[in-house]
Amino acid sequence: MITEATIEGLRAQVADWRAEGRRVALVPTMGNLHAGHVQLVKQARTVADRVVVSIFVNPMQFGEGEDFDSYPRTMEADGEKLAAEGTDLLFAPGVAEVYRRPQAEQTVVEVPGLSAILCGASRPGHFAGVATVVCKLFNMVQPDVALFGEKDFQQLMVIRRMAEDLEIPVEIIGVATVREADGLAMSSRNGYLDADERLRAPAVYRSLQETSERIRDGAGDLGQLEARARQQLEAAGLRPDYFHIRRASDLQPPTDQDRELVILVAAYLGGARLIDNLTLTR
Ligand code: PAF
Repeated sequence: MITEATIEGLRAQVADWRAEGRRVALVPTMGNLHAGHVQLVKQARTVADRVVVSIFVNPMQFGEGEDFDSYPRTMEADGEKLAAEGTDLLFAPGVAEVYRRPQAEQTVVEVPGLSAILCGASRPGHFAGVATVVCKLFNMVQPDVALFGEKDFQQLMVIRRMAEDLEIPVEIIGVATVREADGLAMSSRNGYLDADERLRAPAVYRSLQETSERIRDGAGDLGQLEARARQQLEAAGLRPDYFHIRRASDLQPPTDQDRELVILVAAYLGGARLIDNLTLTR
């Protein structure tokens, strides 16, 4: 596995592959890799000849008081995992390589509407940070295909919309959420949970499953279902940020005619903010 920290070095290597006619995949990450990331790399290998994984803890997507400084940085272990999965190139730039200017002077990629709701309402500026860095990574690597986890459902929609609106010629693939045996979605932030919180955390996925079952059994009052799920999360010792049943195509409240739905949840537990989602057809 080649490791590159500069855009110039990355581009030179990708140019060589392009000259050989290789199809290139990009898996953007912030490191602290778990089985969910490994799944992204595995899938990338099936859709491309060469796989680039980026590890960059992106300051622009963290708000004030969030966990940018404490976000786990585990480069050595990450490198071993990526090499074992047959990653061709690890791109691990520093902040100054990605952002040449102070943040206040940085060009920002903004996806309006979608970025302002759900996680965007609780984390103002977060999705502008995500869209900007992913746009930059797309321009640096110019991948044929890029893969992202469906656990971050709203993020995936923001990135798809950004690439479509800016005519970036990249195929975007969403990869199914990888879960622990008790249903908890894999996340780097699960590491913030202590033993007691870890036992409570599966309540998040349970709330999604139960709500999904009720909708499929014909329950029509979605507001009531949302309120009930929030209560269940509170009873399990979590502090719900939001629990919403939305139209899967645009994350807006569904009408009675909408069949394709997604249930999205964010809840605080100790030092962690857990998010998860479940799609369903009713
Ligand atoms: O999902 C993440 O790890 C990050 O938001 C991403 C897509 C790598 C952008 O920094």
